[in-house]
Amino acid sequence: MSFLVAGNWKMHGLSDQLGELVAIAQYARTAAGTNDVLICVPATLIARAVAVSGGYLAIGGEDCAVEAAGAFTGDISAEMLKDAGADAVIVGHSERRRHHHETDAVVAEKAAAAGRAGLAAIICIGETQVQRDAGTALQDCAAQLEASLPADRRLLAGSAIAYEPLWAIGTGRTPNAQDVTEIHRHLRQLLTRLMGKDGDRIRILYGGSITPADVRTILILPEVGGVLVGGASLRAQDFNGIIRAAETVNLANVETEMSVPTPVPAHSRTTP
Ligand code: 13P
Repeated sequence: MSFLVAGNWKMHGLSDQLGELVAIAQYARTAAGTNDVLICVPATLIARAVAVSGGYLAIGGEDCAVEAAGAFTGDISAEMLKDAGADAVIVGHSERRRHHHETDAVVAEKAAAAGRAGLAAIICIGETQVQRDAGTALQDCAAQLEASLPADRRLLAGSAIAYEPLWAIGTGRTPNAQDVTEIHRHLRQLLTRLMGKDGDRIRILYGGSITPADVRTILILPEVGGVLVGGASLRAQDFNGIIRAAETVNLANVETEMSVPTPVPAHSRTTP
């Protein structure tokens, strides 16, 4: 499976930031193109981001309302994001859960709203430092994910999960390979149990202090389907380095798959 290399600009970006997006789009155009690239930007930039990206990368929002329309001053619906040209939207980012008191149930409704509007939802989950220290990260992340999924699983077509340990966001600290593998495997098992084969198709991204220097060590881990990048997505030079690393890992995976000898069917083997 190809990777999803996604950026989250958070509350960064005035008009002049679009220059970075142009440079990312130019790079994505010349890259091998074996992976999907998505940049989630503030709602004020979506239409212009779509215009300058020239179709070489997907553009997403960072949050959406539960409702499609109505008397909700200041809120932006998934339909509005779609109308502005977005392909995807992040829901349940830990910063929204923390600062806007979003519960798992609200996140599930937002993911459903995204699906109904034809947007891919990037559903974020992740444990706190306290949960990590208590040794309950696995169970806590699984419970959070299950409660953050819309009841109608069909609305999840094309969506992804982002595992973002809260203590790794913006801190320069990342979990070790074993911890990432353990969580991603556990989440995959949960998705498969809940959704069967459709659950296998949902990418599980890792997010938290990703840089061009260390992204490779994360992408080579089992069940890692891509990355959600915060700070390093704001500079084309850094984000393009991440796209480049993902291309290298993906191409190496394809070569490995091609070089595995095809077993000769037993009935066609010649006995000496
Ligand atoms: P950083 O990459 O800046 O740690 O942010 C991660 C994140 O929150 C992406 O959604």
